[in-house]
Amino acid sequence: MKVLVFGASGKIGRQVVKQLTTKHEVISVGSRSGDHIADYSDEAAVQSVFEKVTNLDAIVVAVGGDSIFKPLNEIGDNEFRHGAERKLVAQFRLVRYAEKYLNEGGSITLTSGFLSHYPNPYSMATGPFNAAIDTFVQQSAPWLKPGLRLNVVSPAPVVEAERVAKGLVSAEQVAAYYVDSIEGQASGKVFRAWGDLPLPATD
Ligand SMILES: NC(=O)c1ccc[n+]([C@@H]2O[C@H](COP(=O)([O-])OP(=O)(O)OC[C@H]3O[C@@H](n4cnc5c(N)ncnc54)[C@H](OP(=O)(O)O)[C@@H]3O)[C@@H](O)[C@H]2O)c1
Repeated sequence: MKVLVFGASGKIGRQVVKQLTTKHEVISVGSRSGDHIADYSDEAAVQSVFEKVTNLDAIVVAVGGDSIFKPLNEIGDNEFRHGAERKLVAQFRLVRYAEKYLNEGGSITLTSGFLSHYPNPYSMATGPFNAAIDTFVQQSAPWLKPGLRLNVVSPAPVVEAERVAKGLVSAEQVAAYYVDSIEGQASGKVFRAWGDLPLPATD
């Protein structure tokens, strides 16, 4: 398969690329490095990548710099917009482009994070967007053009392999979920890479 990876040089993205390149052709995108340079929150830049890279089977979005951690009373509109523009709008937009440019039977895998369900006093400009992306994926997957699959990987904090524990995962573990999303048949699925943390009861 031919896979376009946004955030390919990141902590998670590097491992995704490593695991994919054994079987697939990977094209990397970053705002400063990669086969293509594009800010994923800049629509014109994203469109230009899709016009250049043809015959795509899958897209992975694992872009960093999307989270701001501050106490609630220090979060202003700009901090909130930061997450909204990156985690939500930029990822939503990539799904629209996937519908237009991906081959039949293609897939798109987005990224959220466990702060959707395990908030802390500094996560209010981040966790709610993770939750929104998970819900977007679950609700919109059935309405995509036939054959196109959409999933999201929700990582817990990523640590070195020797520090892996409940609620702490390695980049290798997280990357394996992106590979499952691409190579499997799932759609509308939230792959929770939460290191054995349970899904808390809501409501
Ligand atoms: N790491 C964790 O513990 C953790 C936990 C939960 C969720 N997550 C989520 O997982 C995702 C990836 O996290 P990470 O820790 O792997 O991030 P990271 O290491 O900071 O990843 C940085 C990657 O994103 C690219 N990038 C940054 N800004 C970009 C932009 N505006 N446009 C295009 N590419 C851009 C960078 O390339 P350039 O330098 O070339 O721009 C680089 O490839 C994020 O959504 C994060 O919220 C991470």
